[in-house]
Parts: sequence; C-alpha cells; structure tokens
Amino acid sequence: MLRLSLRPYLIVLFFLGLADHLHTSGVIAGTSELVYNGFSADMKLDGKALWINDALSLTDGPGGTSGHAFCSYPLSFQNHPGGAISSFSTTFVFVMGFKQYKGNGMAFVLSSTSDLPDDSPGEYLGLLYSNSDGHVFFAVEFDTFLNPEIDDIDDNHVGIDVNSLVSVESKTAGFYDYIGEFQTIVLRSGKPVQAWVDYDSKSHQLNVTLAACCISKPQLPLLSTTVNLSSLLSLGPVYAGFSASSSKVSSDHYVLGWSLKLDGVAQPLDYTLLPFGAGDETREESKSDVTFYIVKGVPSIVLLVFLIVLFILICRHLRKAKEDDEWEIKCGMPSFTYKDLLTATEGFSNKMLLGKGGFGRVYKGVLPSTTQHVAIKRVSPESKQGKKEFMAEIAILGHVRHRNLVQLLGYCRYKQELLLVYDYMPNGSLDRYLYDNTTPTLDWAQRLRIIKGVASGLFYLHEDWEQVIIHRDIKASNVLLDDDMNGRLGDFGLARLHDHGVDAHTTHVAGTWGYIAPELARLGKATKATDVFAFGVFTIEVVCGRKPIGPANTSGGLLALADWVCGTWQGGSIIDAVDPELKDYDTAEVELVLKLGLLCSHSLSRSRPCMRLVMLYLEGGARLADFQPASLVTDGHEDEEIDQALCTSAATTVTILSGR
Ligand SMILES: *[C@@H]1O[C@H](CO)[C@@H](O)[C@H](O)[C@H]1NC(C)=O
Ligand SMILES: *[C@@H]1O[C@H](CO)[C@@H](O)[C@H](O)[C@H]1NC(C)=O
Repeated sequence: MLRLSLRPYLIVLFFLGLADHLHTSGVIAGTSELVYNGFSADMKLDGKALWINDALSLTDGPGGTSGHAFCSYPLSFQNHPGGAISSFSTTFVFVMGFKQYKGNGMAFVLSSTSDLPDDSPGEYLGLLYSNSDGHVFFAVEFDTFLNPEIDDIDDNHVGIDVNSLVSVESKTAGFYDYIGEFQTIVLRSGKPVQAWVDYDSKSHQLNVTLAACCISKPQLPLLSTTVNLSSLLSLGPVYAGFSASSSKVSSDHYVLGWSLKLDGVAQPLDYTLLPFGAGDETREESKSDVTFYIVKGVPSIVLLVFLIVLFILICRHLRKAKEDDEWEIKCGMPSFTYKDLLTATEGFSNKMLLGKGGFGRVYKGVLPSTTQHVAIKRVSPESKQGKKEFMAEIAILGHVRHRNLVQLLGYCRYKQELLLVYDYMPNGSLDRYLYDNTTPTLDWAQRLRIIKGVASGLFYLHEDWEQVIIHRDIKASNVLLDDDMNGRLGDFGLARLHDHGVDAHTTHVAGTWGYIAPELARLGKATKATDVFAFGVFTIEVVCGRKPIGPANTSGGLLALADWVCGTWQGGSIIDAVDPELKDYDTAEVELVLKLGLLCSHSLSRSRPCMRLVMLYLEGGARLADFQPASLVTDGHEDEEIDQALCTSAATTVTILSGR
C-alpha cells in the first residue's frame, strides 16, 4: 500500500531528473551484489511486510502472522553444475521494538523458495519448523520469543539454523569489545543493531557478528561455526531476505539497510542514509495513502494536473525544508518531538529537574511511547558554527557508544534551543557519593572500578573512536553511575558547542576550576593532554574524597589537591592522603592510583601519560616507574606548543622504562 502511495512522487521526480532528492538508494551491480541504504522497491514482500518511510517493516501489515521480504531476483551461487560455490558476506541494520514490542524476533534467510506461508506460528519467525516439504533454507535468527509460561524471561539470542528451527549453534546476543570483554545487546530495545554474516564456501566456516549500530565491526565474531551449505547453495536460484513473525496484531521488526556480496566483502552501509526515524511517522504516511486512493479513480488528465500541482507543492516543500531535512537525515539519530519531551518531563516542571550543569538544565523524563527513563538536557548553543556543522557534531556524538559513556539517544530542536536526550542514570553523579553525607560512602573496590571505567571511556574518546574527541570537562559531577555503579562519563563533546573559537585573546576557557591544566588556562587550547590532566585530578579526588581545590591548612589560602597530596607524601607516606572514610583497601593499589593521578596532573603536558598508557598502568599491563614527589615540581617554563606527538614519545619512554 505504501509503495503505491509513493509512486507518483517517484515518477515525477525521476522524469525531472530529481531522483537524487530521494535519500534511499538501491544499487544493483550485476547479480552478485546488492546494496540498500534504506530500501527501494526491489524486493518482494508478503504477509505482514510493508514499506514504512524507506524502511522495511516485516510485521506491521495486516496479513497473516508473519512477513517476508526477499530480494526480487534470485542469487546464483554456482555458475555451472559441479562448479565452485560462491562464498558470501552480508551486513544489515535492524531495529526491534520501536514501540511497545510484541514480536517474537526475526531472521536473515537464504531459501530455495521465496514463497513461505504467512501463517506459521509466531515463534517460528515466519519460517517452517523443518524442511519436510523439500524446501531448503539457512537462517540466522534473532530470537526474542517471550515464553508465556516463564514470562519474565525473554529470549535474546542469535542462532544459526540450517533446514530446521533447531539451531545448530546459538548464543546470547552481544559482541566482544576491544578488550575482548563480552557486551550483551538487548535485541528488542528499539535501538538499531548491526549484524554481519560471513560464509566461506571452501572451509564452510560461518561467522555471525553483532554490534550496536553504528560502531565498526568487532574483530571477534559472536558465533563462528562450520556448516555445510553446499546442498542449499548449489540447488539453483537462492532467495535472500528477511522473515519475522508476531502473534499479536502488529509489532516492530524493521530492517533499515542491507548489503550483500558474493565472493567478497559486503559494501559497508552508509549510516547517514539509513531511515533511523522510520517507525515514528507511520501515521503521517498513511494519510498520503488516502490521498492517493482518492486520486486513483479520477481520469488521467485530472491526475496529471494533480501530479503537476503536487510536484510544485513538493518542490516548494523541499526548498523550504531542504536545509532542515538535509541535516536531520545526515544526523542519523532519532529525533524526538518537542511535545513528546514536554509530556515526558511534565512540562519541564521543577519536580523533574535533575540539576543545572554548565550547559543548561537537565530534566528527568519518561518517554510517553516506551516509558523509557531518560535525562533531557536543554542547551542553547552559542556556537558560531553553522547549523550544519553543529548538527554534524551532534550526529557524531550520537554514534559514540561505549559502556563508560552516557549514551546520547537523540535530540530535538525547538526554536533556538537544542534538547539532547540521554540514557537516564539512576544512581546520579559521583560527587554526591564523595561529598554528600546522606549518601553511603563508596568502598575501595567501587572507587577503583569507577576510575577504571572513566579511564576506559576517555581512552575510547581519545584513541579508539574514529575521530579524536576531547572531553574538555572531566570532573566528579560529570561522572554518572549506572545501575551497577559503573562510572560513565557524561557531557562528552558538548564543551565544543560553547567554544568561542580558536582566537586565544577572546577565549574564556571551557572547563571547571581545579581541573584546568596550566597550559589550557594560558593558551586556551584543549588537547588530549588537558583531558588527561583533569582525569588525574579526578582520580586523586576519588581516592582522597576531597575537592580539587581546598583550604590550605596554615595560610588560610587555597591549595590544589595535587599539591596537598604531594605535601602529605613528602611529610610521610602517600597513603596518608586517602579518604578517612575508606576503611578496607589494598595499599599497593591506592599508592598506584594516587601516583598515577599525580603523574596525569603533572604541570608539564609532556610528562603526562596518554590514556592508552593510563589503562595499561591501571590494568597491570605496565608498571609505573618509581618517582619521588620532588620530580613533580617544576620551575622551568613550559613548552608553548602542545603537541600530541609528545604524549606518544613520553609514553614510549615510560613503557620502555617499565615494560615487564
Ligand atoms: C571468522 O572469524 C575468524 C576469527 O576472527 C576469522 O579468522 C575467519 O577468517 C572468519 N571467517 C569468515 C568466513 O569470515
Ligand atoms: C557438503 O555437502 C555436499 C552436498 O551435500 C557434499 O557433496 C560435500 O561432500 C559436503 N562437504 C563436506 C566437507 O562435508
């Protein structure tokens, strides 16, 4: 239905050479490759499957209990009988559970037929339980079946099925991160997930890899097994596509983009083109549906006139909305409506106010559609950057995903304001636990875990993400605690929006007193090394339970925390600086963390380690060379030019000194 309703637009735009206004692209190169960044009509849909705003929805339609969508032309994996069978590689981005989720899961399918019954029971994912009728298939299932008998336990696994729904192999959905640690992914969370399926026809090795969209493909696959797909792939035509089912009326299984290649690596998807907001606009689309059906019965001249008028209207609309649309789509992040956020926060009532940060007020909210708890930050950017650059920045932040960073979920523009929607952190910010007597004090293991977590998040921003992101405002009140009391850095990248340009004369430094590196105060230029400085101060703060700047004992003046620790160290033992609230701790660990904190907050930027090295020290991968408090005191003048290469060279020296 929706496909029809879009046709008039397509035809008119195409004839006027404006087809490139369409943001979806379906590229077919020969028959050995397909690339859909968003979808064109090049697929055969049945059952409950339909198009919603360039996204493939598998189970929102009216028919049956399941939906299928297959590429309309079959693939040929074998050129002649007895010939070599092609390997394949495919990747796709999907979302389950935009709205209230009632589905059972979905599957990527290779099948000998594209005619699958659309009335199979919900838990079969639109597939047949076995291939009793001679139909042969291979599927990678993303199973979220809710067992009615044990209804608080949902399935959340990825399985490999060959000719039967009894999986050859299966595993909880997730991925192995850069340090090889397993991270679970909740399939039905409404967040986009990317999957890769790679099959080598010679070794029969099959890998399935999963990741939260849109991070780069994890190195280790989630599942790696050997399956012999020769009998399926050598049969003749093979249909590739997706299948899903739901026992209830409708549910959300969306595929946003898909790429597949025989004998090669599937072309990466262009995330900026994927229809991330697809599920939100269902209602508006069905309105244009009605328009089309009214028009259908009218003579063709009237239709033509109508189309021309429609075209003029579209052009106008496009011109008007062009600027907005462009970045909204490039942004690749769900945008929320102001109304939603107004409802979520009860009209931004004071009752929901979580705090006031450097960038604006933060409210707690409950999203009306999903009842998900979120934190909403109201920012009024003062940046001189154009709207486009500004949104590009936000888009980048939306793609940054790490378990020690507070996830940006989406945004909303309202007049001059920008509203940023983040994951809600139930345990609030770390400073409360350090200074507020009403909250329980944290033990050493918790503090160390938080320090390691923040280090890992900052390392990711500095070195592991495709672009270097300088945080610019690391401090205890910007570290939030999740359900498991893991530390997560918030507000990353935001300081950039308040950057008054590179002209040092007009710059007032973004950051917080006590955490600002000397050269940052002097030159006004934030670098990785200025972040490391702030991290060092933060580390000491967490161990000592003292503010970065406090009253000096004697003079009545002020004293920086690092200097106070140095003084304590020189006057006896560095351990004496520990928070008196801390009872049980490992002295070697405390000593290491304090010394590392001092080294990070060294006044000379080139003496500070980079975050990669900090991680190594904290995880025991490298030993911190011994040093005396005197070596931290410098009187000389600092190099004016802060160069990132210095971090690397200093790091190398230290590593050699202390390598194990
Ligand atoms: C599967 O993953 C393993 C481990 O990363 C890799 O060595 C192998 O080449 C992969 N196989 C395919 C078919 O991609
Ligand atoms: C894979 O299956 C094909 C067809 O059933 C068979 O001819 C071939 O010997 C099998 N290969 C392996 C390694 O088992």
